[in-house]
Amino acid sequence: MYNEKVMQAFQNPQNVGEVENYNAIGTVGNENCGDIMQITMLIEDGIIKDAKFKTFGCAAAVASSSTATAMIIGKTIEEALKIKNSDVIETLEGLPPQKIHCSVLAEEAIKLAIEDYYSRQGK
Ligand code: FES
Repeated sequence: MYNEKVMQAFQNPQNVGEVENYNAIGTVGNENCGDIMQITMLIEDGIIKDAKFKTFGCAAAVASSSTATAMIIGKTIEEALKIKNSDVIETLEGLPPQKIHCSVLAEEAIKLAIEDYYSRQGK
């Protein structure tokens, strides 16, 4: 069902856990499958210095969160906000159609974490 790239990302995920001293957190869930994804970040001077995830979900969700966190580290907030689930899928070289929603969780978790960061800054 999954290609090799997805299986690799699932079996050896990067950025698992929670960023120490994070100042941005986003948690999203999918009602249908019940899976949950949480992304924490440390943002300094508009740059995402670190990002980690905790995902209670399927292999595609774990692979998507690993890929998405790797994609945003070192990026500006504006660049991270532009990352779409289709970019995550492209990096993973494809997901099965019934697993597209799993990559959407990653996009949403990033956006929510950045919203959380802005609200902590009083913006
Ligand atoms: Fe729900 Fe993948 S099946 S996140």
